[in-house]
Amino acid sequence: MRFFFAADVHSSETCFRKFLNAIDIYGADVAMLLGDLRGKVIVPIVQSHDGTYSTDFLGRKTVIKNEAELAQLEKKVGAVGYYPYRSTVEEIAKIQSNPELMDALFLKFFTERIESWSKLAEERLAKSKAKLFIAAGNDDPLEIEDTLNKSTRFMNVGDKKFEVDEHEIICCTYSGLSPWKTPRECEEDELANRIQSLTSQVRDFENSIFMMHDPPIDTILDVCPKLSEDMTPSATDEIHAGSKAVLDAIKKYQPLLSVHGHIHESKGVIEIGRTICINPGSEYAQGVLRGAIVDIAKGKVKTKMLTSG
Ligand SMILES: [Fe+2]
Repeated sequence: MRFFFAADVHSSETCFRKFLNAIDIYGADVAMLLGDLRGKVIVPIVQSHDGTYSTDFLGRKTVIKNEAELAQLEKKVGAVGYYPYRSTVEEIAKIQSNPELMDALFLKFFTERIESWSKLAEERLAKSKAKLFIAAGNDDPLEIEDTLNKSTRFMNVGDKKFEVDEHEIICCTYSGLSPWKTPRECEEDELANRIQSLTSQVRDFENSIFMMHDPPIDTILDVCPKLSEDMTPSATDEIHAGSKAVLDAIKKYQPLLSVHGHIHESKGVIEIGRTICINPGSEYAQGVLRGAIVDIAKGKVKTKMLTSG
């Protein structure tokens, strides 16, 4: 059975379309799109009194004169995972001064993106027999669960135990604490409890698969630049930002496979005891879909390969 995993696409339209295409190209029986799913930037497209629009997208100021140009710009904005927002100077000022309005706007755009992805997956994979799974990550607000649950082509497996053939799979969407104060982060003790509530449902760890957004700490899967007090990434200093609770669970239960995300810079494959641990990494902002193919046969991982395209 061939599994295809990708993570941290952060609302990138390009990466999502590549993910759908990859299922057929790689011949995956099971495809899993793991968190984080939410985009990080809203791009205001400001309407002037003369009817034209202007925007500052990726450092480039542009004036847009007609609907065709607007549609083209919005496509470019969505491709990198941002949300285009047609608005006025007054509306933008109001939203920028009110964090609650800003959160609500992000949730609206995020919800619309997931709904459109769900529809696209239905259309593109109408004839495919591949099983599709999706899960949130620490960046994704809890309110998105309803929308993920409504998808008819994806099954939402966030914070659940589920089964694919003889494999029991558990999925934890939470991470340890981060500097970003995200919706699904918690102290290591709480993370350990969350993992425990999932592992307590597993009967056969030998054939089990862990999907835990946070990678195990102190490995090559969790290295990222150290942040300064003003949150600037260091060019030279690195830290391990993974989770001890995740590492402990892998060591204790020794699943067949453990798949992670969260730390975009730290793609890699390692072994912790008998467990193959993978972080596919992420380059969503560049429109590159990073992924991992894993072939499992007769209770063993036969092939493990990182992909990029
Ligand atoms: Fe994350």
